[in-house]
Amino acid sequence: MATISLIVNGSAVGVGADPDTPLLDVLRNHLGLVGTKFGCGLEQCGCCMVLVDGRPEKSCGKAVSTVAGKSVMTIEGLGTPERPHPLQQAFLDEQAGQCGYCLPGILVTARALLDQNPSPSRAEIARALDDNICRCGSHARILRAVERAAARMREGGAR
Ligand code: FES
Ligand code: FES
Repeated sequence: MATISLIVNGSAVGVGADPDTPLLDVLRNHLGLVGTKFGCGLEQCGCCMVLVDGRPEKSCGKAVSTVAGKSVMTIEGLGTPERPHPLQQAFLDEQAGQCGYCLPGILVTARALLDQNPSPSRAEIARALDDNICRCGSHARILRAVERAAARMREGGAR
């Protein structure tokens, strides 16, 4: 057991955990951030994706000790029901999801893409989301939603 310090959604936290504990378990079980989902547990599906220092990382196979001192963003850090991020609004507008289980990982991955590239082509969006599987088969609407959010963010300068 060790105390590991990291920054989660902008707040410094100290977590008492075995250093090998998966980051996903720390987020969900220690910090109560249950938006990030457990799917395969094998780094294959992407539904546990979070941003580590702004880059998408699968949290199910990542020991919490490897993110000590780093900044982690989960879906809870993206927007709120009262103030949704443009990506969240666009996903609602496009009804880009059915069960929604994949969406926390997809939304944070899309956020990282738009931070790097405000005008991605459809092929670039698809490539960025290559590691995120949607079992409901909502891929076409997900791509449209990311395009819609990108356009809205370019118009409004929102991030
Ligand atoms: S739960 Fe981590 S990639 Fe599937
Ligand atoms: S909306 Fe169900 S897995 Fe993607």
